[in-house]
Amino acid sequence: MASTTLKINGRDVSLPTGIFINGEFRKAIGGKTFATENPSTGEEIVKIQEGQAEDVDEAVRVARKVFRSKEWAAFPAADRAKALNKLADLMEEHFEDLLALEMIDTGKTRTQAANLDLPGSIGTIRYFAGWCDKIYGQSNFGVPGVFGYTKREAVGVCGQIIPWNFPLLMFSWKIAPAFTCGNTVVIKSAETTPLTALYMCELINKAGFPAGSVNLVSGYGKTVGAAIAHHMDVDKVAFTGSTVTGRAILKASAASNLKKVTLELGGKSPNIVFADADLDQAVEWSVWGIHMNYGQTCHAGTRIYVHEDIYDKFLEGYTKALKAIRVGDNFGGKTDQGPHNSKVQYDKIMGYIEQGKKEGATLHLGGDSDGGKGYFINPTIFTDVKPDMKIMKEEIFGPVVAISKFKDEEEVIELANDTTYGLAAGIFTRDYERAIRVTSALKAGTTWVNLFNFVHWSMPFGGYKESGIGRECGDAALENYTEIKTVYMNMGARAPPVGPS
Ligand code: NAI
Ligand code: MG
Repeated sequence: MASTTLKINGRDVSLPTGIFINGEFRKAIGGKTFATENPSTGEEIVKIQEGQAEDVDEAVRVARKVFRSKEWAAFPAADRAKALNKLADLMEEHFEDLLALEMIDTGKTRTQAANLDLPGSIGTIRYFAGWCDKIYGQSNFGVPGVFGYTKREAVGVCGQIIPWNFPLLMFSWKIAPAFTCGNTVVIKSAETTPLTALYMCELINKAGFPAGSVNLVSGYGKTVGAAIAHHMDVDKVAFTGSTVTGRAILKASAASNLKKVTLELGGKSPNIVFADADLDQAVEWSVWGIHMNYGQTCHAGTRIYVHEDIYDKFLEGYTKALKAIRVGDNFGGKTDQGPHNSKVQYDKIMGYIEQGKKEGATLHLGGDSDGGKGYFINPTIFTDVKPDMKIMKEEIFGPVVAISKFKDEEEVIELANDTTYGLAAGIFTRDYERAIRVTSALKAGTTWVNLFNFVHWSMPFGGYKESGIGRECGDAALENYTEIKTVYMNMGARAPPVGPS
């Protein structure tokens, strides 16, 4: 299938638009296409092939065939590392194309995508490349009469379902550890941000991945996503997205072949500023806590608790910093915050802002939109937010924070943990004993001391409670993508006696 050439901010970017199966871009079996749009303008960028369940079937069939093949079994782990490193090299070489595609499809500014999404994706792929030939089991000489050892085997065909807030980064988080461990992959991008995944498939071919080891089916959740989740020949699903869809995927696994499921879901992360904090540092990182990706981040610091002694000063500094954020077209050069990703997300965020006002919280800043065709929302602060209000409980996924006061450590730990989520939490303090005590008491998969929204590919990431199941990144990710096989070898043991005693 031919590629199309997109003109993005004066740059020509060549992009394949097909379903990627067995190293080829194909037309969708059902003959449908769908459009992705630029959230700064609401205009269509391009139409791409829209997969359905039958395309998933075909992709899984190919991924299974490759997984079972002698060639795949003989493909050296060191060559998997080579392919991943080559992919990272190609991403560096084609950095500007990937950046342009990610910016136009998501609404990210150049500053965020060039400093975060792209380096994070390349770093992840290089990190996992290093693991390829370092995945071993254990040996056990302590069992009488036998020698026992374990080996780590690939799980099989991995179905990977990713969201729109970090399309390239999540593509990398999902394909890299799966491929590293010797699995084959069928991945589905999000329907509003399919472009960088398509571009990556072309690079995957160039990098020397065996044909069919990574396959991509673009399309919608209810069709392609559901087909992956329900598939009888997919061994594992890794999903990042909403808690509602995460539950649907777990149910699909239970109703089909009990495929292994890892979930990285929503959050409502608390950010606690103690009276002894370095105030400038706390303000700077708390701004990043919500400004990163304009709040479209599962670990965003949306509930800020400030000690009453410094509350007024913090609020003053924080408000000033949020006021300085310039909202507008993400290709506009002087813009700090671009549009939100889609009309659906825009409406959801504006709905929560209305709800907050209705429930009696004080709208301290923002709450409005600069209008225009794009999905722009100004940074928003609510104060006087009570624990039972919706804006304190539910994930808004926008530039909206609730700031409240607290009196003491015990009270704030209680407030911070009063949530169904458990993805991340941060504190600001100069007291290291308190830092250790409080991070231990917080029920969250990631905790930060004197910084916020910092995630590195070499460290595990995932949630407590309804924020998910399993960990991605770091060596913890390898556990999701390998099965442990136990082998007992007889070293002189006799079978137990049979018959009546
Ligand atoms: P979503 O969870 O529905 O979408 C994420 C991915 O799942 C997409 O690729 C989608 O096509 C797919 N999907 C949807 N329904 C599916 C199904 N039944 N079976 C299999 N796959 C399915 O999330 P959506 O609607 O894009 O966003 C809704 C909210 O979810 C956001 O406002 C935010 O609160 C949260 N969210 C959290 C993310 C995170 O990073 N944890 C990422 C994206 C959204
Ligand atoms: Mg888009």
